Amino acid sequence: MKQIKAKVISNREIKPSYFKMAMNVAGLEEEVKAGQFINIRVTECSGVLLRKPLSIYRYCRKSGSLEVLYRTVGRGTEALSRKRRGEELDIIAPLGNGYELPAGPEPVVLVGGGTGAASLYFLAETLAGAGFSDVRALIGARDKENIICEKDFLKTGCKVRIATDDGSRGFRGVITELFRSIVPGMKPSTAVYTCGPKPMLSSVAGISKKFKLRCQVSLEEYMACGVGACMSCVVKTKKQSGSGGKQFVYRRVCKDGPVFDGPEVIWE
Ligand SMILES: Cc1cc2nc3c(=O)[nH]c(=O)nc-3n(C[C@H](O)[C@H](O)[C@H](O)COP(=O)(O)OP(=O)(O)OC[C@H]3O[C@@H](n4cnc5c(N)ncnc54)[C@H](O)[C@@H]3O)c2cc1C
Ligand code: FES
Repeated sequence: MKQIKAKVISNREIKPSYFKMAMNVAGLEEEVKAGQFINIRVTECSGVLLRKPLSIYRYCRKSGSLEVLYRTVGRGTEALSRKRRGEELDIIAPLGNGYELPAGPEPVVLVGGGTGAASLYFLAETLAGAGFSDVRALIGARDKENIICEKDFLKTGCKVRIATDDGSRGFRGVITELFRSIVPGMKPSTAVYTCGPKPMLSSVAGISKKFKLRCQVSLEEYMACGVGACMSCVVKTKKQSGSGGKQFVYRRVCKDGPVFDGPEVIWE
């Protein structure tokens, strides 16, 4: 983890409200893993905002270019969308634990809801590079205008299925229903990875548990410090050995996560 001055290489609106930003962050080749995130300090004239956490969308080890894909939802991301080529950003990277790759060549299913798909794209690329040939990506969104990363996932060679709540593209309904419909045909060794809104993660973890599939979930809790110091991002997880008499332990999403094994998390 380093605090870095990163120069913006590009910051393009890829569709209304969605931006892809590339920045120069050389020197992270040995550290960066799919599922990790960066924390960007965003400033504007009215004052300094908190740092904003964004998943690492892509990291090119050769050029040192790090990409993020974000949706503008408030002041911080709006301010970020105004950054131009050559401007400098203060970032802390890489943060969090990242996804653990499957041990063998088992099938993989990625389930991304909303901007959660951004966290899974780097994983799809990493899996392709490691020789995993049976990777499916399920991407869910409200409607066809909000589907992201589809072309990028296809480029990695994985099979893509789309679900939209309003049925304007692909499966009509929530992504968890699409997932539920394909799970019975999956091999028991299938590894499931998911990122998106908490109720969706809870549902994907529950379905995976029922079918005895290993599932890793990436949580996107509200964060302040991003480095494990303030406890603003804690989630309840099942007790592990050595945690005293309590039935649960709080763990920090920024430092102990954002990726957890599905069954570890107490969903409430
Ligand atoms: C580990 C991690 C990785 C993330 N990766 C991405 C990513 O790759 N792409 C992306 O677009 N977003 C991602 N997010 C969410 C992103 O950090 C927030 O959207 C951003 O901080 C909002 O800042 P803002 O100042 O623009 O909006 P704010 O003014 O802070 O909030 C605007 C609205 O967004 C909601 N919101 C803000 N933060 C969150 C959150 N963490 N979870 C749910 N709702 C939130 C608020 O409730 C409010 O309704 C990630 C969050 C985490 C914790
Ligand atoms: S954001 Fe401060 S401990 Fe996680």
